[in-house]
Amino acid sequence: MIMSKRVLITGASGLLGRALFKEFESDASWDVLGLAFSRIKDPLRKVDLRNKDDVEQVIITFKPNVIIHSAAERRPDVVEKQEEATHQLNVAATQFICEAAVKVGAWVLFISTDYVFDGKNPPHAVGDLPNPLNKYGKSKLEGEKVTLSVNPGNALLRVPILYGELEYLEESAVTVLFTKVRATDTPCVMSDYERRYPTSCQDIAIVVRQLTECRLKDSSICGIFHWSGNEEMTKYDMAVDMAEVFGLPTNHIQRDKSASGGAIRPYNAKLDISRLEHMGITQRTPFKTAIKCVLERFMTN
Ligand SMILES: NC(=O)c1ccc[n+]([C@@H]2O[C@H](COP(=O)([O-])OP(=O)(O)OC[C@H]3O[C@@H](n4cnc5c(N)ncnc54)[C@H](OP(=O)(O)O)[C@@H]3O)[C@@H](O)[C@H]2O)c1
Repeated sequence: MIMSKRVLITGASGLLGRALFKEFESDASWDVLGLAFSRIKDPLRKVDLRNKDDVEQVIITFKPNVIIHSAAERRPDVVEKQEEATHQLNVAATQFICEAAVKVGAWVLFISTDYVFDGKNPPHAVGDLPNPLNKYGKSKLEGEKVTLSVNPGNALLRVPILYGELEYLEESAVTVLFTKVRATDTPCVMSDYERRYPTSCQDIAIVVRQLTECRLKDSSICGIFHWSGNEEMTKYDMAVDMAEVFGLPTNHIQRDKSASGGAIRPYNAKLDISRLEHMGITQRTPFKTAIKCVLERFMTN
């Protein structure tokens, strides 16, 4: 029986980390410590996760039961150019976290990505062999391996393209499209090729808390999990939905049927989420409902 429940969240200033922090903070039974790096706002604590001693010190002092490791370099085009810097954060820091977690008996949930798959034979089940196509996917797969090799009792949660409460529109690969959607006088082109499953960070945060609660009751819960929205969309589809929820015209948005440029992306890395569904975890908000809440304040500025 666990008397106190302490969760440490890395990347708590990030797109997903903010939602995770809020979700655990809203439940008084959790004592939450959120870590950040450059965007330090009270109550977040600054820790450079690439520094082994600092990582060990914060974990040994706080003694979490659970660590949600969300911090990462997650921009595929940046990773292509900054492989070594990415390795430091996505792999080496993950190792520091998992090793320190062992010292205090903490369970680590590593947030990963659908980009560990090649997207050639969807839906991808938790037991399917990953085959990342780009350096970002490779670095996250390495982070996954470290997480489970340091402690096979740890877990991974793979998620697809995310959107959530924003500091600025470009923060998410989904919401960045809105810059062009709302400029209704300027024709624009949107990719209508790769299949995506945009997922709300708020939904992921609820799923993570529910999975964590299950783990505290059942210590055999470990390994690989997937969560995802269930609406298959191209970027063109997302753009049209965004326009529709705000009553904007769509005739300035044109389809581009060719593959996206930059780092190679999987065509359809749909995740099979049945493992979590069988545990009774089902949190999903329709795209139009969730995206409207996120974008509302950007309709005027
Ligand atoms: N966004 C997506 O569409 C998407 C899709 C699939 C999977 N994921 C995965 O989801 C997780 C969260 O992604 P996200 O979108 O929330 O990322 P994000 O918004 O880019 O946030 C990255 C976080 O990492 C922190 N960080 C960066 N360098 C650090 C360092 N040296 N030491 C400590 N912290 C550092 C940042 O802190 P500061 O900002 O304070 O510097 C920030 O909180 C990642 O593991 C990512 O791979 C994301």
